[in-house]
Amino acid sequence: MTVPQPPVRDKRLVSLLWATMEHAESIAQCHATLFPEAWSVDSFRQLLAHPGSVALVARHGLAQETVGFIIGQLAADEAEILTFGVDKDWQRLGIGRRLIEGLERAAVRSEAKKLFLEVAEDNLPALVLYSRKGFKEVGRRKGYYQRPPGPPVDALNLVLPLGPA
Ligand SMILES: CC(C)(COP(=O)(O)OP(=O)(O)OC[C@H]1O[C@@H](n2cnc3c(N)ncnc32)[C@H](O)[C@@H]1OP(=O)(O)O)[C@@H](O)C(=O)NCCC(=O)NCCS
Repeated sequence: MTVPQPPVRDKRLVSLLWATMEHAESIAQCHATLFPEAWSVDSFRQLLAHPGSVALVARHGLAQETVGFIIGQLAADEAEILTFGVDKDWQRLGIGRRLIEGLERAAVRSEAKKLFLEVAEDNLPALVLYSRKGFKEVGRRKGYYQRPPGPPVDALNLVLPLGPA
């Protein structure tokens, strides 16, 4: 009897690709494991179809599996990260950083001058990553994330200036 083996957790087997409509379903599945509120496959299709959309998936080549995603939006000379995550089994391997840097390069090519995002104040892994990438806090929405039965949590608005160093 052959026992199915889990995919090898080897980051060299993970490639970044431009996300297309075909990835909407696997992005929705990955997203649902990471965030308390799942988004529908259709909402991902709509995000990906938007004219200013820029999105990447991290794909495990052997397993044909989406292990991470980032979806951003370009408008005029600004870019924004709308959603971003890495499958729990694939975190701390540098995939999140690669996804952000991929989006950053795409934004720079489109002549965006700033990259914005919003993050919960208690999301330590994301905050450490963003701070190490050079994002700075520029605003705060008090009690934006409802966390019943706990108290609401502030959303922080962060920005990364883009362009030649
Ligand atoms: C935030 C997230 C995308 C990071 O993805 P990742 O692939 O694990 O990140 P990386 O491996 O590229 O980490 C890069 C750096 O970020 C920091 N970091 C990442 N996870 C961390 C953690 N759990 N604790 C402390 N620092 C962390 C470290 O500095 C890390 O570098 P190091 O591993 O060399 O120390 C991932 O934790 C995730 O999907 N979280 C749930 C969804 C989410 O919160 N998305 C962001 C919403 S704003």
